[in-house]
Amino acid sequence: MLTMPGSPDPCVIVIFGASGDLVARKLIPALYEMAACNALPEQTRVLGVSRTEMTDEAWRERLQPWVKEHAARFDESTWARFATRLHYLSGSAADADIYPGLTERITSLSNGAKSGGNILFYLSVAPSLYEAIVERIGESGLVTEGRKWCSIDRDNVPWQRIVIEKPFGHDVESASRLNLALGRVFEEDAIYRIDHYLGKEIVQSLLVFRFANTIFEPLWNHRYIDHVQITAAETLGVGHRAAYYDGVGAIRDMIQSHLLQVLALVAMEPPTTFAAHHIRQEKIKVIDAIEPTPIDRLHEFAALGQYAPDEHEPAYHLSDGVPHDTTTETFAALAFRFDNWRWADTPFYLRTGKRMASKRTQIVIQFKQPPVQLIRHLHQLEVGPTPPGNQIVIEIAPRGGVSLRFQGKVPGSGVRLDTVAMDFDYADRFQAEPIESYGPLLIDAMRGDQTLFPHRYEVEGTWRAVAPFLGEESATIRRAIHANYEPASWGPAAADVLLQRNGRTWVNG
Ligand code: BG6
Repeated sequence: MLTMPGSPDPCVIVIFGASGDLVARKLIPALYEMAACNALPEQTRVLGVSRTEMTDEAWRERLQPWVKEHAARFDESTWARFATRLHYLSGSAADADIYPGLTERITSLSNGAKSGGNILFYLSVAPSLYEAIVERIGESGLVTEGRKWCSIDRDNVPWQRIVIEKPFGHDVESASRLNLALGRVFEEDAIYRIDHYLGKEIVQSLLVFRFANTIFEPLWNHRYIDHVQITAAETLGVGHRAAYYDGVGAIRDMIQSHLLQVLALVAMEPPTTFAAHHIRQEKIKVIDAIEPTPIDRLHEFAALGQYAPDEHEPAYHLSDGVPHDTTTETFAALAFRFDNWRWADTPFYLRTGKRMASKRTQIVIQFKQPPVQLIRHLHQLEVGPTPPGNQIVIEIAPRGGVSLRFQGKVPGSGVRLDTVAMDFDYADRFQAEPIESYGPLLIDAMRGDQTLFPHRYEVEGTWRAVAPFLGEESATIRRAIHANYEPASWGPAAADVLLQRNGRTWVNG
């Protein structure tokens, strides 16, 4: 919702994988929230597709408790109205046989609701099915707009768009194969690769923070900034997802997508305008400027870990469904450098992990020290550590907010320094209730606004950036990974060493 809001077009949202966890926990509660605040056009209908045999009514009943639990606010009468817009079709989306029935159902819902023939496909299925489903959609004839994109008057022509969940590929090759498969059916303008981090209010406000103010941008470069830390720490373990997670790991699950997207927003140049293509162009450029990591020096750029056991959960490598010799990381701290003018010699440290000390997602902009420690010299204050340089801490979770931390004088005789902060709390200031970030993103897709959806080159670029940490050579940084960090800690000792090597420390609060 960064660009000027046009209104969303009504459509039929076809959700493949409708009986899955994500749909119940996130998508439907998000759509409900959008309906509750009148952001979802009245004529929009949702058609869930999945192999489980179910009636419309059974699907609605199954979803209701999830919406009650996960939506910001629940109200029986709003739900009753919303539920009549939920429909269900059983069948396998990868199977060509269901498409005649699916087409008929979409047409009848669209005609009944007068939603104008627009279709928003949503792939919430196992990634291994993506290509097959996209191909089936192509063969079905449901996508009529794509190729004629430039030559027609768009206003009177129904559109078809597709939203795809992460993981978007497994590496550079699979991501670009998937992009090609999508491109055979949909124009790039109709492809919405969803990353729920970009739907978080405070992540979106990063661009406003940087580019609607004048006081930060002159400092936003290697001359003043020593380094940047981006952390997404979680307290939960992998739990019942262990078998799936083991094929993925923290780098694929969090860094390639969420954290590198945040990095792009922090590091990009000012866009020409706030239009989607201008913002995406700048993100592509800065992702392309990430220096390739030398594979013979991976340990200087990465620290990986797996959590140890405690009374609540076994050690990761002993979890059910995980091979006991697994080297998949549940924690990763990676250092990235840019080969560009703005960020020369300013590393960006990205860190994420399961079972850590607290649920905390934040960006720390760490400024350099003053050129001379004048106050210390003046007063011959030789004791105590050097005070930390100035910091801007942009907190994404648990609260949204920005804090500017700097040195102040402790009252009293003599000069004693302490860190003080100027704080902005998003919820307090705007009385804003946190909403599920999928909602605004889906509305954006219905408005045809791709600002908050990564372009194919961003996805391929971020896969390239993490590739050295995932390939065979990464065996060197996966040695002795088992149980190398305690639950409720900030990760393995190697993560501290990664920063200490350059005289830096992690900011955990
Ligand atoms: C998902 C990952 O994309 O993001 C999960 O697959 C992770 O493993 C989740 O827990 C974290 O999201 P958030 O919004 O809670 O930080």
